[in-house]
Amino acid sequence: MTEEEIVLKCKEYIKQLFENDSTGHDYNHSIRVLNNAINIYQNEQVEANLFIIQLASLLHDVDDYKLFDTVDYENARKFLNENNIDNNLSNKIIQIISEVPFKAKDTITPKTIEAKIVQDADRLDAIGAIGIARAFAYGGKHNRQLYSKHADKNNNISFEEYKKSSSDTISHFYIKLLHLKNLMNTNYAKKEAIRRTDYMISFLNEFYKEVD
Ligand code: ADP
Ligand code: NI
Repeated sequence: MTEEEIVLKCKEYIKQLFENDSTGHDYNHSIRVLNNAINIYQNEQVEANLFIIQLASLLHDVDDYKLFDTVDYENARKFLNENNIDNNLSNKIIQIISEVPFKAKDTITPKTIEAKIVQDADRLDAIGAIGIARAFAYGGKHNRQLYSKHADKNNNISFEEYKKSSSDTISHFYIKLLHLKNLMNTNYAKKEAIRRTDYMISFLNEFYKEVD
């Protein structure tokens, strides 16, 4: 199989895994992350392995703790093994998947350019108009209130505390979404994140105008 055929097969694999998702992590999220990653790669003009970037983008959420109960990246490993991806490449892809997620104080800044690009690509999809839509979809699915009188703004928490927190969705903007622009690794993503964050700030201003 050519690399192009493996990427197509990977799209089919994630289509079936995310078929029933209504938490903002549907098939189209992974496709947008893939497209963001390709855009970043093309704009940064850096030496990077595009095949690794593509597979890591598509597989980045297949073992996410919020969505699956798998152990040791078994969904990702299943695809990589079944398609005879060599060990060296597979390990690099699993490493990227492990470094991408936001973990509050325990978030990792990746060392490789491929991981930096995939992390930025995933984060771009958490902000702006699409980010707002996804946050409320996730919140609704997890029984979170839309907002409360006093937003929880404490982001100085460990990954364990972050996972346990059940604060409302507007609080999620202060705990995570508004900070992402300062955590981007690449220039392209930083610029795009500033634009998308300005949009979220306008949304929050309008939101408070209407509800206060
Ligand atoms: P990460 O691995 O960095 O969490 P994901 O691709 O899994 O990235 O996406 C996180 C998405 O889930 C975001 O759109 C985010 O808004 C949503 N999300 C996660 N936790 C919450 C939460 N507590 N409240 C609302 N949305 C959340
Ligand atoms: Ni994601």
